[in-house]
Amino acid sequence: MSTTTQYNVIVVGGGLVGSLCALFMAKRGYQVSLYEYREDPRATEFARGRSINLALSNRARRALQEVGIEERILKCGIAMKGRYIHNINGKNKSILYDPRTRQCIYSVSRNYLNQELLQEVERHLNVRTYFNHKLINVDVDQGRLVFLQTKNNTTIETYGDLLIGADGAFSTVRRALQQTPLFNFSQTYIDHGYIEMNINSQSGRAMVPNHLHIWPRGEFMMIALPNLDYSWTVTLFMPFERFKELNSPDKVLDFFKKFFPDSVELLGKRQLVEDFANTKPSPLVSIKCGSYHVGENILIIGDAAHAMVPFYGQGMNAGFEDCLLLDSILEDCNDNFPVALKLFTESRREDAHAICDLAMYNYMEMRDLVTRPSYLIRKKFDDFLFWLLPTTWIPLYNSVTFSEMNYQRCISNRKWQDKV
Ligand SMILES: Cc1cc2nc3c(=O)[nH]c(=O)nc-3n(C[C@H](O)[C@H](O)[C@H](O)COP(=O)(O)OP(=O)(O)OC[C@H]3O[C@@H](n4cnc5c(N)ncnc54)[C@H](O)[C@@H]3O)c2cc1C
Ligand SMILES: *[C@@H]1O[C@H](CO)[C@@H](O)[C@H](O)[C@H]1NC(C)=O
Ligand SMILES: *[C@@H]1O[C@H](CO)[C@@H](O)[C@H](O)[C@H]1NC(C)=O
Ligand SMILES: *[C@@H]1O[C@H](CO)[C@@H](O)[C@H](O)[C@H]1NC(C)=O
Ligand SMILES: *[C@@H]1O[C@H](CO)[C@@H](O)[C@H](O)[C@H]1NC(C)=O
Repeated sequence: MSTTTQYNVIVVGGGLVGSLCALFMAKRGYQVSLYEYREDPRATEFARGRSINLALSNRARRALQEVGIEERILKCGIAMKGRYIHNINGKNKSILYDPRTRQCIYSVSRNYLNQELLQEVERHLNVRTYFNHKLINVDVDQGRLVFLQTKNNTTIETYGDLLIGADGAFSTVRRALQQTPLFNFSQTYIDHGYIEMNINSQSGRAMVPNHLHIWPRGEFMMIALPNLDYSWTVTLFMPFERFKELNSPDKVLDFFKKFFPDSVELLGKRQLVEDFANTKPSPLVSIKCGSYHVGENILIIGDAAHAMVPFYGQGMNAGFEDCLLLDSILEDCNDNFPVALKLFTESRREDAHAICDLAMYNYMEMRDLVTRPSYLIRKKFDDFLFWLLPTTWIPLYNSVTFSEMNYQRCISNRKWQDKV
């Protein structure tokens, strides 16, 4: 029997990153407890209809491969080989991500992915999962966590040899780190919020398949990602101010007819009006931390450590890469937690900051630049050199999305290309 079984590891948050991390830790042979605020998603009979999806690319695939479920996940994903641009003049255009080797990103259902990860986690006998448990207090000095059991309003205290916070952008674990001395931290809300809509599986068949659809409109932008049943998840990103102006059914319809005319029939007028009446736009936050650990045994990963705006489709990818990195560091330092956590912060910080910056940059590129001739010329030029020099001239998007190059190097690589 492996000696590592004596270690107790607590993972807070059973979202995408927390459940994958628990899986990695279980495979290392630790005793793992996974605590999640929400109900077990496999138990809830959530109203059928809407599915929310996200784009999975190379970094997430690598991590899924490591735990042996890449194929199963990809089978339920939809390959997207490029962007499909809907211009306001009605002209559409497909721009492949990778004309040279035709690599794709994959649209997968968030719920499906989360449930598969949890399913896989629970196949390990050395894991216990606790749903309806909300972390309410972290005692950094004692290494103690207090959870509220939301079903009966009682609290429990737990201790572990290693405590991993994967509790998302508004992390409770991170809040405890923020209260320690010398902790650098920054948080930025952008002026844009988003709402999610849906093109149903009947209308969805009219959409050109296997693309990430984009309606770039300068100040705002709409995108659509495909689902297995031919429906599409549509997300509109727009300044909160403009959302506020669309305060009547007529204003909503006029707005869509003016800016997204080809989407009105697809989304359905009634549904559109209903969506705007019933949903408040959600905020988007970008978070950077100077350190991801505190003391000898508390660590944050995923959005808790580096939430980013979603415009590079890298949030989950980066979070999954955290799990891969943590696992390999633990392997290298023989499960010495204090050493591992220091190494994790040191080797991850600059890269995490880099992808947060890239995501913010892409916020501009996606809603604006992709429609400009200069962008298309640069892309053609990049693609041509990439074809000519596949190992030396890797365009920025490709290095971020289809390679395992450090995010930092992706940026320095691009700066070098800009000079050339
Ligand atoms: C609109 C949008 C589109 C996106 N698209 C993409 C994309 O295409 N590709 C991509 O890679 N990324 C994308 N992302 C980013 C991605 O969603 C996140 O990076 C990813 O979900 C982070 O996972 P996580 O597990 O760290 O955090 P979360 O998914 O937020 O999960 C955190 C979990 O912790 C639980 N929790 C929170 N607080 C507590 C507590 N106190 N106690 C116990 N449990 C708690 C929550 O219930 C939740 O289950 C997108 C994000 C947004 C907003
Ligand atoms: C509260 O619920 C948990 C399960 O969520 C259970 O283990 C515990 O015994 C319950 N406590 C009381 C006082 O009912
Ligand atoms: C839960 O317990 C706390 C303190 O024990 C109490 O203040 C609160 O009102 C309770 N909430 C519910 C929903 O029972
Ligand atoms: C905090 O950030 C500043 C600016 O980047 C840096 O100079 C400083 O060393 C950081 N402090 C710590 C404790 O990391
Ligand atoms: C562009 O795409 C939309 C939606 O798929 C479609 O309705 C429209 O006819 C297309 N326009 C052209 C010119 O192909």
